[in-house]
Amino acid sequence: MHCTQKITNDLTWVGANDRRLAMFEGVYSVPTGVSYNSYLLMDEKTVLFDTVDKAVTTRFLENVAHALDGRNLDYLVVQHMEPDHSAGLQELVATYPNVKIICNAKTLAFIHQFLEVDIDAQVVTEQDTLNTGRHNLHFVMAPMVHWPEVMVTYDATDKILFSADAFGTFGALNGALFADEVNFNRDYMDEARRYYANIVGKYGPQVQALLKKASALEIKLVCPLHGFVWRSHFSDILSKYLLWSSYQPEEKGVMIAYASVYGNTENAAEILAYRLREKGIKTVMFDVSVTHASEIIAAAFKWSHFVFASTTYNAGIFIAMEEFLSDLVAHNIQNRTVALIENGSWAATSGSLMRKEMEKCKNMRIIEQVVSLKSSLKKEQLKELDAMADAIATDFPSPLSATTAEKTAVAEIDRNTMFKISYGLFVLTAKEGQKDNGCIINTVTQITDNPLKIAVTVNKANHTHDMITKTGEFNISTLDESTTFSIFEQFGFHSGRDTDKFVNCDYDNRTANGIRYLPNHTNSIISARVCNTHDYDTHTIFIADVTQAVMLSEKPSVTYQYYFDKIKPKPQLPQDSAKKGFVCKICGYVYEGDTLPSDYICPLCKHGASDFEAM
Ligand code: FEO
Repeated sequence: MHCTQKITNDLTWVGANDRRLAMFEGVYSVPTGVSYNSYLLMDEKTVLFDTVDKAVTTRFLENVAHALDGRNLDYLVVQHMEPDHSAGLQELVATYPNVKIICNAKTLAFIHQFLEVDIDAQVVTEQDTLNTGRHNLHFVMAPMVHWPEVMVTYDATDKILFSADAFGTFGALNGALFADEVNFNRDYMDEARRYYANIVGKYGPQVQALLKKASALEIKLVCPLHGFVWRSHFSDILSKYLLWSSYQPEEKGVMIAYASVYGNTENAAEILAYRLREKGIKTVMFDVSVTHASEIIAAAFKWSHFVFASTTYNAGIFIAMEEFLSDLVAHNIQNRTVALIENGSWAATSGSLMRKEMEKCKNMRIIEQVVSLKSSLKKEQLKELDAMADAIATDFPSPLSATTAEKTAVAEIDRNTMFKISYGLFVLTAKEGQKDNGCIINTVTQITDNPLKIAVTVNKANHTHDMITKTGEFNISTLDESTTFSIFEQFGFHSGRDTDKFVNCDYDNRTANGIRYLPNHTNSIISARVCNTHDYDTHTIFIADVTQAVMLSEKPSVTYQYYFDKIKPKPQLPQDSAKKGFVCKICGYVYEGDTLPSDYICPLCKHGASDFEAM
């Protein structure tokens, strides 16, 4: 019996689920199954987007027939020729012999490589469109997301992106077709990460190229070939794709993967994990002989630091670790810090060999000191593990100054910080790679208490905005009434694109996320990680989970009114009193002239004409 679901008035999901598959593509376990999505558009012409895997073709054909409701099938758009989406093509053509196949030239070649089938094909490029009556379909090439022939389709009429493998996830659909029908971030993000890292993790630049093309489109619905349809909260997954495709970690913390024959290498790895936790550093651990590589590769895309611990085996790396590292390198992992523990009862080689593997990756910082065990960890070697923990911890700077740190546990969340939020002024700081930056903002709001979330609105012209978009993390320093105008000059009147706003600072205070904060003129610090974004043309609202929140003083927060009354210098009137002018209410800059152009931008603080007043 058919099992379909309406998406819009004229678009229907006609895919199917497989919960019996053990290993997707023969490599990736899918304990919660997998969905093969196919979509039927009913217009003056009927259009099917892709078919399904052979395991579910019978149900799929029932679904297509039901959704067509007696009509013929005019077009099949083949976006991806991998057999999990094309195995049903042959039977579909046999059922609907007049169907015209829309595909690109490479796809056409693949069709004939995989199948013995006579087809009527129309080859398209990015310059082509297909009008089906009310709908206009555009084709966007997306090579290597995940195969070279991949293209996606944009329905310009209803603003739908048929995204092929992009934005998919492992896991069968269990009655819910839309991502907003489930708690995606809690229940499905791990599988979305595992899907991304393993399927297209190697092809970050190609994914970024597709994201760039997609950013030019107005998108209301995203229909991938696996997993949920996105009709809202698309930024939940988009923000992750921006991180994953640029090989930036999602979280600061240490992923420890070990291979241990008799438990001695594991013992050293575990002791290190405890030492790191004592320093407030998050850790996760995997035994590479037990946990499938696809799980560990997904974790590698999440965490910022790796520790690999392996015994020596046949004068090499223990086989399970060797295979895992080879797989990880093949997935193009980059921008991480790595520490190594080796073991060898008579000739330890695994440390140097693991180093060689990691040196194949771009921008990996490998901690020089390898902890080398001879059969088992000895008491005198504990200090070597301490030294390794210390070396890793240098990337996790002390969250607060010493005196405050003594009173405050790392990553503590003090909810009193929420009471310091006013319609006031804040320094928003971010860190991208080695670059620190910050800007002045005036809109921070607490959204929910449990879980604790805040919203921050940032002008897209700010470099800090772009850094947060890429890294997903930021700090808020809530300014107090002791703030001097120099703070606004430092963070508000220059662009971080061409200046180092911290160049003359005599402090380098950072929270647990490694991002700087202002220790002076600040009554509280909030660290947050972006979980959602909303685009409002000139500004982005970042919704973020609070990851750390610390009170520094009980001084009152500076309000906007206080700033205008007490901090902002009074405007210097032109010497010639006959001259007319306008003063920027934000920074005090004076524009001399009879009229202020409506599109005038303050050269100091970049606020627009609406923030000027006549003198
Ligand atoms: Fe879902 Fe690349 O196939």
